Amino acid sequence: MSTAIAHPNIALAKYWGKRDATLILPAAGSLSLTLDVFPTTTTVTVGEDDGDVVSLDGVQLSGDESGRVRTVLDRVRELSGRREHAHVTSVNTVPTAAGLASSAAAFAALATAAADAYGLEADDRMLSRIARRGSGSACRSIFAGLARWNAGDDDESSYAEPLRWSGAPLAMIVAVVSSGRKSVSSRDAMRRTAESSPYFPAWVESSSALLEQMSAAVAEADFTRIGQLTEQSALRMHASMFGAVPPVRYLTAASIALFDAVVTLRASGVEAYATADAGPNVKVLCRADDARNVVDGLTALMPNADYVVAHAGSGSRIVDGEAA
Ligand code: DP6
Repeated sequence: MSTAIAHPNIALAKYWGKRDATLILPAAGSLSLTLDVFPTTTTVTVGEDDGDVVSLDGVQLSGDESGRVRTVLDRVRELSGRREHAHVTSVNTVPTAAGLASSAAAFAALATAAADAYGLEADDRMLSRIARRGSGSACRSIFAGLARWNAGDDDESSYAEPLRWSGAPLAMIVAVVSSGRKSVSSRDAMRRTAESSPYFPAWVESSSALLEQMSAAVAEADFTRIGQLTEQSALRMHASMFGAVPPVRYLTAASIALFDAVVTLRASGVEAYATADAGPNVKVLCRADDARNVVDGLTALMPNADYVVAHAGSGSRIVDGEAA
């Protein structure tokens, strides 16, 4: 039995679209910040004789959700040469499926716990590749802080790696406007965008260029540039969704108002940049030293949102002696 903990990551350069839906190879690379809030703890117990059983927050999963867990277990069994079934118990501290990256933390924790439970000697790169099979963005949550997912062109070459950051410590303010479950899963929305949005090819092409610009800005510790590119990537990703048939609209009036509030903050001299994923909640990137000012400024402009201050968090790891 092994237990692992992992945190969500928020993409600054977004992943949206696959070139291979089975292996989960992305259409373009991406870059993210792993947070220190909303961890998921997952315990994998090997050697059960009633098949693979998966429970999340005390509720047994079926269908697609447990199928994705089995995909990861199958991969670990294949690599470790073992065949026993497993029980997986997972506890989330973030509202599931509300665009707060719960699946990234969940599959990073699962890959880490399962590899350990099956006795597979896996380095972080291999764990990243295994986590990717469950949910693409999970491959980045294996690592602390900033990580870049290299798109790659096969299972071997598609993994995330940590990026060195020598600038001032970063913070991410999570502005929660809704913790409800989203109506369209990111997986379905991504597929629909790729299949029907006329903007999708332009999104993919511009994503690769933006990733290189952002990687250079990280190497130069150029916070302003990273922030500008972060907003660009988020808005372009949502623009590609707006073009889908039927359209995918995760952003609500409250989300847009938060993007506006961030522009107002910048005009007043507080450097902050907004991003949003497959849900209405908005995340605001700033320097850790400015986090208080950002929360105060946003609260004054948007008093109805809840604000959670996050910083750069640790990568996935095994925790001893405590089961999920
Ligand atoms: C908007 O990783 O959840 O958060 O690979 O189909 O499981 P699947 O998708 P997922 O998509 C995340 C999309 C995003 C942007 C990002 O995290 O890069």
